[in-house]
Amino acid sequence: MILSRIRLGNFRNHAATTVEFGDGINAFLGANGQGKTNILEAVSYLSLTKSFYASGDLEVIGIGGEAFDLEGILVSDAGVQHQVRVTCTRTPQEKKILVNGTAPERLAAVIGRFPVVVLSPENGSITFGGPVERRRFMDLALSQVSGAYLEDILEYRKALRQRNRILADNRMREALPPGVIEPWTESLVAYGSRIAHHRAQFAAELRSHILNAYRSIMPDTEIPDIAYLCGFEPGDTGDVRGYASGLSADLEAKNSEERRRGLTLAGPHRDDLQLTINGLDVKRFASQGQHRTLLVALKIAEYSYMRERHNETPMFLLDDVFSELDMGRVHRMLAFAGGLGQVMITTTEGTVFGDSVPWGNHNRRFTVERGTCRQEA
Ligand SMILES: Nc1ncnc2c1ncn2[C@@H]1O[C@H](COP(=O)(O)OP(=O)(O)OP(=O)(O)O)[C@@H](O)[C@H]1O
Ligand SMILES: [Mg+2]
Repeated sequence: MILSRIRLGNFRNHAATTVEFGDGINAFLGANGQGKTNILEAVSYLSLTKSFYASGDLEVIGIGGEAFDLEGILVSDAGVQHQVRVTCTRTPQEKKILVNGTAPERLAAVIGRFPVVVLSPENGSITFGGPVERRRFMDLALSQVSGAYLEDILEYRKALRQRNRILADNRMREALPPGVIEPWTESLVAYGSRIAHHRAQFAAELRSHILNAYRSIMPDTEIPDIAYLCGFEPGDTGDVRGYASGLSADLEAKNSEERRRGLTLAGPHRDDLQLTINGLDVKRFASQGQHRTLLVALKIAEYSYMRERHNETPMFLLDDVFSELDMGRVHRMLAFAGGLGQVMITTTEGTVFGDSVPWGNHNRRFTVERGTCRQEA
């Protein structure tokens, strides 16, 4: 998948910006606050139907404006061209997506069609933050690879919401009204077991990708590893059925506590991904540089996983990744990026590229200044 062109209309500080991308490395250079990240954010709208970091769609509409309007031309690996248009109005708040002029049944149907991996400063919370960030990491990668997974997540959330509401509403009662919670418990187990099984497979597959990626940017004796921490004990079979019986048993065991607290206490909404370097928990023991390197390795691993699992090569968006890496790692990272599909990089320091990237038609350089973007010769 290659994004050949994007047009940003009234998006953040870009009133009207058009970018013609190369199919290799695309570097966006410029001082702080000029609108580099905003371009990557617009690209993420075409793929994910939303920003990779803004909390809402209204935030990205140009201040004082009534709507934003994005349009991109994406070319599949097989050479088929697709036009994607995303618009959002402020009042009434309404977002629309058109793929080749047609609205998909649901926004979610677009996710995964134009796969993307984003590495931005906000992702630091994947190694530093709580489990919710690591679940989001798994969900975003898996949802783009598997439409069934995304469906499972959406249905699971619905079941969880309903089940929590019933538990909360009936906290003071002796017994639950008969037949009210059971269907939601069934859904929770059905979707939850598939999600957990899928995540376990993902983590297992990601291990070797992470090891390779870590080595490629940090040839060292450090050995990173990840493990899926399922909140409940799956049955011995290791298949979806095993996960389902494990989750059922856990819900059963926590039944009285759930009633007391009015909350669902078992299921993949309580999972985590354990990250270690040389066997030590990253969150507690890793240095700043190790966090950084591991995060980059995780994202490269996500990219490799998606490239392997998806029939389209993903785009790789790297927002401001060089600022915290030393030059040695920057150069190894660039050498690595040169061997991938289309990569978009923002940086304030154009000098980091040195002579390591041959600029031309394939690899392009842009200068971003006060909401404008111009290609360098
Ligand atoms: N909704 C909006 N409407 C207009 N301008 C906006 C909006 N949201 C953000 N901006 C402006 O966009 C600019 C920030 O753009 P962006 O985050 O892309 O900068 P950047 O070039 O990536 O900078 P840095 O190097 O600091 O990361 C700021 O000047 C900000 O005021
Ligand atoms: Mg930025």
